[in-house]
Amino acid sequence: MSSLPPPSGAQPEPPAVAPAPNPMADPVVGARGTLTIVDIAFGGEGVGRWGELAVFVPFVLVGEDVEVELVELKKRFARARLLRVLRPAPERVTPRCRYFGDCGGCQYQHMDYAMQLRMKHKQIRDLFQRIGGFTEAVVAPVIPCPQPYGYRNRIMIRSQWDKFKQGLNIGFIRADNRLVVDIEDCQIAEPALNEQIRHTRAHPPPKGGIKVVLRIPPPGWEVPHDSFFQNNFHSLADLVGVARGFLQAGGARFLVDVYCGVGFFGIEMANLVERFVGVELDQLAIKSARRNAAARGAANGEFVTGRAEEQLPALLARFSADATCVLIDPPRTGCLPESLALLRATRPRQIIYVSCHPATMARDLNLLCAEGGYELVLVVPVDNFPQTQHVECIADLRLAPAAPGP
Ligand SMILES: C[S@@+](CC[C@H](N)C(=O)[O-])C[C@H]1O[C@@H](n2cnc3c(N)ncnc32)[C@H](O)[C@@H]1O
Repeated sequence: MSSLPPPSGAQPEPPAVAPAPNPMADPVVGARGTLTIVDIAFGGEGVGRWGELAVFVPFVLVGEDVEVELVELKKRFARARLLRVLRPAPERVTPRCRYFGDCGGCQYQHMDYAMQLRMKHKQIRDLFQRIGGFTEAVVAPVIPCPQPYGYRNRIMIRSQWDKFKQGLNIGFIRADNRLVVDIEDCQIAEPALNEQIRHTRAHPPPKGGIKVVLRIPPPGWEVPHDSFFQNNFHSLADLVGVARGFLQAGGARFLVDVYCGVGFFGIEMANLVERFVGVELDQLAIKSARRNAAARGAANGEFVTGRAEEQLPALLARFSADATCVLIDPPRTGCLPESLALLRATRPRQIIYVSCHPATMARDLNLLCAEGGYELVLVVPVDNFPQTQHVECIADLRLAPAAPGP
């Protein structure tokens, strides 16, 4: 069962509980006290103060008075466990999942969906200012997911031997340590994936330490079992819509789809350009990309297997830079600096950067935009991952006007 206090935000007028007296004992692990949450940090933890010390608390909302226990103490901050919500914020709602708080998969089920979107927007704006050095005006409001529960089409289930219960735990990594929490269902997974969870539990792996990937194939796309596809079918139309809008506004005639997977973006944007080429490390994904393009009538493209950083010079040389858009959708670690340097040197007219990791994205965009390289026109966040701290972002970058010669 969840270790969270009973949620109270579902009541129309939750009675305010007077905060317990808070003598603010010396901050030591195990000390208990009451805090007012003044901010939410990136990743979703609330921030309160224990005297001079900033304290991070999960599963709380701004404005709430909460009773906490310190669990970790560092020089400049501490972490605490939530014991009780004394004064709930109006945005607090009842989490749907009985494992919320124990399971590490979701961070925001205690917050209404409109609040999740506002918070993700603020966090992305902050990151783009702090890491990217951009003004906050460049980040558009987050596009909501039409289905904020029951949306995930791929999950990884782990098994771990539990010596206390003398049986297997089959589920996800816990929120507070690396142990596995035993789960029977997942509220953010597609209903068909919950069928697969039940099947996996009914036919458990013979021992602990096993990882099983469960996924639903995307309708109309061929995807090898171990290759990448977007995790949320319900947000695909928005992702594509934003990327197509950027490409149309930029006016490029050629598209280079870098880190192309099974060809998703290149194929979805193929009818906006004369020619396109995709590059991807995963050979099986490239084979599927070719079949996906044929099945979808995208005859003006081709796909190349290889490392982006090695293939990019030749791919960029195929098209005239002033008519080319480069779409980059790298893994969470972002782009290699040499690829970013190459883009700055080759100067394609537009770069569309897609990422599920806004911090590495802000870092990379800062490099692309340094010293008059590119201009960041707009970042549009798309909420591919409701109830969690994650969010997808798409950015439109245009070549900055060349500096006047001496
Ligand atoms: C976030 S996925 C994007 C896939 C695709 N754009 C889509 O929307 O389905 C990142 C992809 O980059 C690929 N990848 C990782 N490192 C790479 C590299 N160095 N060169 C080329 N592709 C790479 C992965 O195999 C994965 O398919």
